[in-house]
Amino acid sequence: MKKIILVLGMFVFCALLSCGCNPKRTVLSDKGGIWAVYDRECRKCHKVSGKGCLIGRFIFKIPNFTNKKWQDNASDSRLIIAVANGKRKMPAYKGKLTDEEIVDLVKVCVRSFYPPAEK
Ligand code: HEC
Repeated sequence: MKKIILVLGMFVFCALLSCGCNPKRTVLSDKGGIWAVYDRECRKCHKVSGKGCLIGRFIFKIPNFTNKKWQDNASDSRLIIAVANGKRKMPAYKGKLTDEEIVDLVKVCVRSFYPPAEK
């Protein structure tokens, strides 16, 4: 019985660990401008890929910014309000970031994940 718990524990630990690192690109701030803010504030949850880490997607319902259907259903105003006021597990950024930054994060960063950038 103890062994099963140990194996399960290791599995969860590894899964959590893989949540925190991205083997490919690890920074976006080299794109300049608003991306430095995304890197600092948003990347830890939404990731460089915009897909959100696996566990985050299942447990906290982090949206996949690269999904066309999601993008089509999400209006600028809804997303801007979500970033400003927060949404469940998502922290609020009003007061922490300027209004211009919040708008740019949605219009420039979030929107840039679809269509996906060519490699
Ligand atoms: C602590 C983790 C975390 C951080 C940091 C974070 N988010 Fe989120 N974000 C979430 C979660 C969780 C959701 C899903 C909210 C829900 O629908 O319950 C979300 C949802 C969103 C959405 C979709 C809202 C909607 O209405 O569908 C946008 C856009 C977004 N985040 C942008 C950002 C931006 C921009 C930043 C940086 C300023 C950021 N997030 C930082 C966790 C985070």
